[in-house]
Amino acid sequence: QRLEMALESIEKGGYPHFMLKEIFEQPRSILDSMRGRMIAESNHLMMGGIREFENKFVNADRILIVACGTSWHAGLVAEYLIEDLARIPVEVEYASEFRYRNPIISERDIVIAISQSGETADTLAALELAKSKGATIFGICNVVGSSIARATDAGAYTHAGPEIGVASTKAFTAQVTVLSLIAMIIGSKRGTLETTKLHELMVELETIPGKVEEALKLNDQIVRISEQYKDATNFLYLGRGYNFPVALEGALKLKEISYIHAEGYPAAEMKHGPIALIDEHMPVVVIATKDSSYEKIVSNIQEVKARKGKIIAVVTEGDTTIPAMADHVIEIPETSEHLVPLLSVVPLQLLSYHIAVMRGCNVDQPRNLAKSVTVE
Ligand code: G6P
Repeated sequence: QRLEMALESIEKGGYPHFMLKEIFEQPRSILDSMRGRMIAESNHLMMGGIREFENKFVNADRILIVACGTSWHAGLVAEYLIEDLARIPVEVEYASEFRYRNPIISERDIVIAISQSGETADTLAALELAKSKGATIFGICNVVGSSIARATDAGAYTHAGPEIGVASTKAFTAQVTVLSLIAMIIGSKRGTLETTKLHELMVELETIPGKVEEALKLNDQIVRISEQYKDATNFLYLGRGYNFPVALEGALKLKEISYIHAEGYPAAEMKHGPIALIDEHMPVVVIATKDSSYEKIVSNIQEVKARKGKIIAVVTEGDTTIPAMADHVIEIPETSEHLVPLLSVVPLQLLSYHIAVMRGCNVDQPRNLAKSVTVE
């Protein structure tokens, strides 16, 4: 027993929990997930798994993404990326719904299954179904040799390293990194992403590990914010565009480990329901980085403030507008909006972690949840 505890503390590398260790590993795991696949300086962009099926990707009628949980959120980011950069229609499906609703699948479809563990039963069953209809199956898994990885026609591993904390953190950013590379590759092959823009994105993606490192320095500030909101009973998370899936992911993280009820919403959809919940007791986390929906989200913040909601805003460094309206401002480095989820998710991971610790929750093994769900 004592030996086990000693081993575990070594594995945690000085961190009190695996989750915190894994959050702090992200500069490295993101870098590892692009290593060898992209070098901006020499315009090198290549993924073995894609090369084999390049024509299929270039000519695909549509791409279906199946996944569960956090991996499904990475899939949503991919929908924005692939539609925007490669102009192929993308549908993102909960694996459990997809498999039971007699889905329309053709041989010209590509199905991407995303799974950290590679063992999620619903995701595996969904891809087997798509395979039986003749679709090409591409896998994005973290665990090498896992069931899903073995069941696919081709794939790309995320190189996040082992993820022990039940709440997924570094696997998510690794998935988004790999999916960004895929969108860039298909976009450039299809000619929908011009060379200069592609190069800009490559250069920007290379800066992301360093910018995540910067974002991790927000830790102390986030501890202070967490102290103020740890007793809240509800949280709302709002984002638009590329930050909408991040809002969902932030809310999921909080629910999973702190047991606080949280909802993620597209900011503009708030007026169709959640706005009714807003009063002075409702913390609202708004991801409002400088991007194409910035002006819109500023007015969403005003709508929350007018109803006395408490605003915790994640903004781009140097923003001067939102600090005048928000109760708390968390500044992250500037980046392209295509890549912003890789940065904006980091403070939300930290927020849920610290709130859960302050509430005395078992962060690494939350009640009722499992790291991989191998049953329906
Ligand atoms: C479980 C885990 C989540 C994970 C989901 C999908 O619910 O607790 O963290 O996102 O399964 O897992 P996968 O291994 O397929 O990504």
